[in-house]
Amino acid sequence: CLTPELISLHKLEGKIAVVTDVLRATSCMVAGLHAGIKSVIPVMTVQEALVYAEKGFVTAGERGGVKVEEFTIGNSPFEHMREEYHGKDICMTTTNGTVAITEARKSADQVVIGAMLNVSTVADYILKQGKDIAIICAGWKGNPSLEDTLFAGALIDRIIDKGEIIDDASFMALTQYRAANGNVDKVIQENASHAKRLSGLKAKSDLAYCATEDSCNVLPILKGDAISI
Ligand code: MLT
Repeated sequence: CLTPELISLHKLEGKIAVVTDVLRATSCMVAGLHAGIKSVIPVMTVQEALVYAEKGFVTAGERGGVKVEEFTIGNSPFEHMREEYHGKDICMTTTNGTVAITEARKSADQVVIGAMLNVSTVADYILKQGKDIAIICAGWKGNPSLEDTLFAGALIDRIIDKGEIIDDASFMALTQYRAANGNVDKVIQENASHAKRLSGLKAKSDLAYCATEDSCNVLPILKGDAISI
């Protein structure tokens, strides 16, 4: 599912939804939880997050790639890994990533958070569960994103021997990932529109980090309102 707008076509009932927003929402969640954050509550709006702030939560996220002024931190994985947030509960809202999670949770049996950083851990889990999955890419404001499509391909590449692709988008994602031939970072940096946007916002150092495969062996799962490992 290349954008959350297409979720209803994918009939998530009975399936595991693996939600991804490589640049950068789900990479922040994976990196932050791996580093020691206790949980992440994804919400749709800044106003909802500010209610959590009043209850003592750390707030995180962006609009258009830029930190929301009233929030504690923005949307760089390096901020989410800081020691001062270890053991803390975070409330997060982002332009596309938390939208995709909110949409997926409405009908999926389970929501798993995926990023390049934990793609093999997600693949191992999926193989053990033996259930149908839908990979939900956050995209950018209704458009597919190269980096999320590459994640979908990376995940499919790791599980396809034990399964079956049932739509063209999945085949396109797999082909794209295999064509990157171990240079996902370069392909993203040179071609992804959001990579160009983030470079302009002085977030270039996030790009290489978010494109790294398998540096965080954690499996964040949404339980109730919170994502934890
Ligand atoms: C999003 O949710 O659209 C992204 O995480 C934006 C960003 O890179 O900060």
